[in-house]
Amino acid sequence: MIIAIDGPAASGKSTTARRVAEELGITYLDTGAMYRAVTLAVLEQGIDIRDEAALKKLLSTLDLSLRTESGKTVITLNGRDVSERIRASDVTAHVSAVSAVPAVREAMVKLQRELGNRNDSVVEGRDIGTVVFPEADHKFYIVADYRTRAERRQKDLRQIGEERSLAELMEDLKRRDKKDSSRDHSPLKRAADAIVIDTSRLSIEEQVKIIVDKVKKGNS
Ligand code: DC
Repeated sequence: MIIAIDGPAASGKSTTARRVAEELGITYLDTGAMYRAVTLAVLEQGIDIRDEAALKKLLSTLDLSLRTESGKTVITLNGRDVSERIRASDVTAHVSAVSAVPAVREAMVKLQRELGNRNDSVVEGRDIGTVVFPEADHKFYIVADYRTRAERRQKDLRQIGEERSLAELMEDLKRRDKKDSSRDHSPLKRAADAIVIDTSRLSIEEQVKIIVDKVKKGNS
C-alpha cells in the first residue's frame, strides 16, 4: 500500500505523514530529505548545477540511506548522518534549484520507487501522487495559509538555533512555492484525485485522524 502525501513547504505535511505512518505501523519516506541531501552534496562539492556531466557523476556515486528512528528521519549521505545539516538555511535556499534539474529528479524518483515498493509506505513530497506513484492507494494534498506556514517554519528553525522573522519567512515560502510550482519538470501540483486538507486551523492530532480514518474506510 502506498499513501501519497503532497503539498507545499511547511504546510504540516511532514509531521502529519510521519504520525500517520506511525499510527498505521508502516514505513515513512521523506522525499524532501532526499532532495536536500543531494543539495548538500552539490554545495559541499562546489558543483555548478548547469554542469550536467559533473552532476551526473555526483548522482552516480551518491550513497543515500534513510530510516526512521524515534519518529525522526535519519538520513545518511555517503555514510555520514546529515539529518540536521540538511535543514539549515543554506540547503533550503538552494534546494528548489537543485530539485528542478531533470537528472536529479530522475535519480531520486527511481530511488523513491524502489524504497516505496519495499514495504507499505507513507510517501511524502511534492509529486508523489502525480509522478512517483500515480497509482497510489490513497492521495492527500496538504495546504495551509502563509502565516501558519511561516510560524511553523520559525519554530522548526529555532530548534536548530536559527532565528528568522515571520515576514522574511513568508517571503521565502512564496518564492519557493513559485519556483516549485512553475518548474517544467514535475511541478508541485495537486493530483486530480487527491483529497485536499487545509491544516491552518487543525491540530496535528486532527490532521492525522482525518487521514487515518479515510485510509481505514478506504475512501481516499
Ligand atoms: O519538503 P521539503 O521542504 O523538505 O522539500 C525540500 C525541497 O525539495 C522543496 O523545495 C521541493 C523539493 N522537493 C521536490 O521537488 N519533490 C519532492 N518530491 C520533494 C521535495
